[in-house]
Amino acid sequence: ENKMVKICCIGAGYVGGPTMAVIALKCPAVEVVVVDISVARINAWNSDQLPIYEPGLDDVVKQCRGRNLFFSTDVEKHVYEANIIFVSVNTPTKTRGLGAGKAADLTYWESAARMIADVSKSDKIVVEKSTVPVKTAEAIEKILTHNSKGINYQILSNPEFLAEGTAIQDLFKPDRVLIGGRETPEGRKAVKALKDVYAQWVPEERILTTNLWSAELSKLAANAFLAQRISSVNAISALCEATGANITEVAYSVGKDSRIGPKFLNASVGFGGSCFQKDILNLVYICECNGLPEVANYWKQVIKINDYQKSRFVNRVVSSMFNTVSGKKIAVLGFAFKKDTGDTRETPAIDVCKGLLGDKASISIYDPQVTEDQIQRDLAMNKFDWDHPIHLQPLSPTAFREVAVAWDAYEATKGAHGVCILTEWDEFKDLDFQKIYDSMHKPAFLFDGRNVVDVEKLRDIGFIVYAIGKPLDPWLKDMPAVA
Ligand code: NAD
Ligand code: UDX
Repeated sequence: ENKMVKICCIGAGYVGGPTMAVIALKCPAVEVVVVDISVARINAWNSDQLPIYEPGLDDVVKQCRGRNLFFSTDVEKHVYEANIIFVSVNTPTKTRGLGAGKAADLTYWESAARMIADVSKSDKIVVEKSTVPVKTAEAIEKILTHNSKGINYQILSNPEFLAEGTAIQDLFKPDRVLIGGRETPEGRKAVKALKDVYAQWVPEERILTTNLWSAELSKLAANAFLAQRISSVNAISALCEATGANITEVAYSVGKDSRIGPKFLNASVGFGGSCFQKDILNLVYICECNGLPEVANYWKQVIKINDYQKSRFVNRVVSSMFNTVSGKKIAVLGFAFKKDTGDTRETPAIDVCKGLLGDKASISIYDPQVTEDQIQRDLAMNKFDWDHPIHLQPLSPTAFREVAVAWDAYEATKGAHGVCILTEWDEFKDLDFQKIYDSMHKPAFLFDGRNVVDVEKLRDIGFIVYAIGKPLDPWLKDMPAVA
């Protein structure tokens, strides 16, 4: 039955690429083409060096590419040929105009929709894969049907719940697949067609079907709940430092309550990534537009605590080191927003590095998956510009001479006054900290933003250690209080 299905996905990014690769792997009878306007991205997908780093992805792509998985810049041809069109373009935060700094920018989505309307000659199922504001399907429907030339379009909402670093695992065994559609006979038929694709490998009871608005809103709500857990544990981490409680013990005890659960309770320097902040801001904006300022303020607080956590970390570094890091070398271990990804979008490392640079530190950064070019670009960029490719300017030659990028952790920390761990890469657990200590200026400071090091062991070596939410080093207790 699936022999006739042709899928086209617009947007070959972190979501479109891995998601379509897994659909192609699991549905050998379906032809899947991923298209993008970025020639560089498509070329990379067709090469040995894929544009994103994701464990297990190479393997999946190698198995299907050229068989039933294709990457192309010929957007119009493949949209024309497909029955099911996924739209997985970026939906960043608006940087200007109405709702700037909050609302989702649907420019990319709208231009994809208009292109679909322009080239289509047969009925299409159009699937929202991107995270979009609730009610977007209504707008998309209008764009498509007002330009339809008698073609029947069905819009489905099928938000993606994968997390980076575990994308392939998440796609193989999703907690749930969510499909929202119109409650009409044609709507139900479209939902069934998409359900049939996922049913090739996802158990039936994990495929949820809802109305369009529930599906759209569930995605924003899920990300808001997840981010809220992190802000909750991070808020408690500040109180731990003030009282001598230990956040690891507190989070473990709290998570043992089966109603709360043990996952996603790691205190950190703050959450990052392309989704949480953007999606909460989007939720806040929608609440405001619907006359619900109390609800908007409730969710806004999740972001405020996250910003507080990042600046609290910078303040700790500076205040511990005699209230100035001017001219001191600070090593930064880890720049990606979490381990097992090279993605730096909204990484807390950007804010921490900018904070340290603001106090005139000279920083040396090591991350196993992030390039120097990417780091320099991130540090030179304005808030929210990262997801607007149009704004990507070539680097000015004067950018950040105070920032060096090192090839390994030992080079980064050599001669440093302090070390900040900002990503929980596994390799940071096994570093030879004695060797690092010996090569540093004394007193040697270590600030663990991810709770990866053995604090006692490092104190025995001689480090002055700060770890998020852990009882303070006797040294730090005597330092001025942190605002
Ligand atoms: P991305 O920036 O990596 O990829 C988007 C791609 O779309 C880019 O390659 C861009 O060139 C392309 N594009 C933009 N406009 C286009 C057009 N008109 N025609 C063809 N291609 C176009 O973004 P992403 O991380 O894959 O996220 C995509 C969407 O999925 C967002 O809405 C995001 O919120 C959502 N999402 C992301 C994640 C995640 O972990 N990254 C998880 C779940 C949902
Ligand atoms: C998130 C959602 O998890 C995913 O379902 C959605 O589809 C996209 O957004 P992602 O941003 O890729 O995925 O990674 P995630 O694992 O959620 O981590 C986000 C941030 O929170 C990272 O910076 C991570 O380090 C941080 N985090 C996560 C914590 O600080 N503590 C935790 O306990 C968990």
